[in-house]
Amino acid sequence: MSRTFYVNGDFVAEEDAKISVLDRGFLFADAVYEVSSVLQGRLIDNKAHLKRLARSLAELSMAPPCAEQVLVDAQMKLIQLNGLNEGLLYLQVSRGVADRDFAYPARAKSSIVMFTQVKNILTSPMAEQGIHVISIPDLRWKRRDIKTVGLLAPSMGKQAALDAGVHDAWMVEDALVTEGTSSNAYIVTEDRKIHTRNLGHEILSGITRHAVLKFAAEAGYTVVEQPFSIEAARQATEAFSTSASTFVMPVVNIDGITLGDGTPGPVSRQLRKLYIEAALERQDL
Ligand code: PDD
Repeated sequence: MSRTFYVNGDFVAEEDAKISVLDRGFLFADAVYEVSSVLQGRLIDNKAHLKRLARSLAELSMAPPCAEQVLVDAQMKLIQLNGLNEGLLYLQVSRGVADRDFAYPARAKSSIVMFTQVKNILTSPMAEQGIHVISIPDLRWKRRDIKTVGLLAPSMGKQAALDAGVHDAWMVEDALVTEGTSSNAYIVTEDRKIHTRNLGHEILSGITRHAVLKFAAEAGYTVVEQPFSIEAARQATEAFSTSASTFVMPVVNIDGITLGDGTPGPVSRQLRKLYIEAALERQDL
């Protein structure tokens, strides 16, 4: 069955979901986006995603495309029209259509598109077994805190990982891990401390990161928000990544080095369980 897409206020069939070739999202990656997870037909932590969307827009001097409630209503209608129970909702806002020019157009009406994707997030073989990652140089620009659609570098990284026979890549800058290709990165050290990079322009402020760090602190873990080296990651007792599309994903091998006994560690498993329990219970984490 063909999916229903949302394009600038209209709910249309996939084949009719079209945007101009002059859209600045297409020509300049002049667009921002959010991916929210959906469980039991409900958006998870969507308020936080829309808050980050507003911030990304503001950082790029883009006006909000419409009132937030209009977006939420459209998101909910799209989930309903597609009968989505579990999966993802993608939302993108671009600066809109204008003749090609590097300068921002004086008057352009933003383009909004949304679509849904079916995905098993709660149960997956990767979450059961843990994933293998390789480290790669972080080739991205210097404002990774803005969630733009300029995703070629992480896309190259993900493909490099698949070509190397592993699941994903962790990006490294000055010997320090920034994040995964589409996730935040964490290690657990022998003293059971959880390390993850501090927020700044170098990484995206993950919505899942925020919730998971809160649950980790509540569960009594010490969280160290500081850059950690790829060397420390290779020697960690366990590692994991977080994102709206995978929640908490255990990492069991980095650059061919097995972490612990090669199965998801207890901290990753506990945090995954806590996150899922909370998400099934309430929408705002
Ligand atoms: N990506 N870091 C990067 C570079 C990301 O692309 C993502 C998410 C995250 C995690 O953020 P959050 O917890 O808010 O999903 C961190 C989404 C899932 C994507 O591009 O598909």
